[in-house]
Amino acid sequence: MQQAFVPAGPGRARVAVLISGRGSNMAALLAAAADPAYPAEVVLVLANKAGAAGLETARAAGVATAVVESRGFKGDRAGFEAAMQAELDRHGVELVALAGFMRVLTEGFVFSWFGRLVNIHPSLLPSFPGLETHERALAAGVRLHGCTVHLVSPGVDEGPILAQAAVPVLADDDADSLAARVLAQEHRLYPAALAWLAAGRVRLEGGRALVVADGAQGALANPLP
Ligand code: GAR
Repeated sequence: MQQAFVPAGPGRARVAVLISGRGSNMAALLAAAADPAYPAEVVLVLANKAGAAGLETARAAGVATAVVESRGFKGDRAGFEAAMQAELDRHGVELVALAGFMRVLTEGFVFSWFGRLVNIHPSLLPSFPGLETHERALAAGVRLHGCTVHLVSPGVDEGPILAQAAVPVLADDDADSLAARVLAQEHRLYPAALAWLAAGRVRLEGGRALVVADGAQGALANPLP
């Protein structure tokens, strides 16, 4: 079994959170990482839009921020990613957490970060990849919906699943009420899943990610503990 991320030493893993907007998942990660016992520290919040509201939250929390405007790289995804990579290098980033980052990354970038690049998506993957997940869940009439944290593979919202949380779909839900119920779970799930990865507890086997239980060598935890 291959280990997804191997911690460099006893220190905390250095994480960049990539955002495009509101940044509520980023805020949940910052809150978790405020505890010195959390195995990751957020060393950079990077946005692809200068107007991303989450940047203000990050600055207020005293976290370094960077903006790499995707608009400035029209048709040049490799150039955009090279500029992002330069920021990641500058801050000594070891793990990248996508949190509402609404740009599709190239295969080259994804492969270079494989096992160290995570995403949160507002559906129970592999159902409803892409956009408007809550609208599509309602239209499909599913009774359970939720969110997924996964390692990123090439392909939109694809890659080995680290953790999922399910919520009921209620008869009188609209997209907003359903989104709010899912978002509350996202804020719980993402810090937990990132902690497992940062602590070196994630193994890859075939196309799957397995989480090794805390303190029990060889035992596997089926999230959430
Ligand atoms: C979250 O619901 C996240 O799961 C979703 O965007 C929202 C961002 O909110 N991500 C995707 O749809 C990616 N495919 P936030 O900026 O408040 O964290």
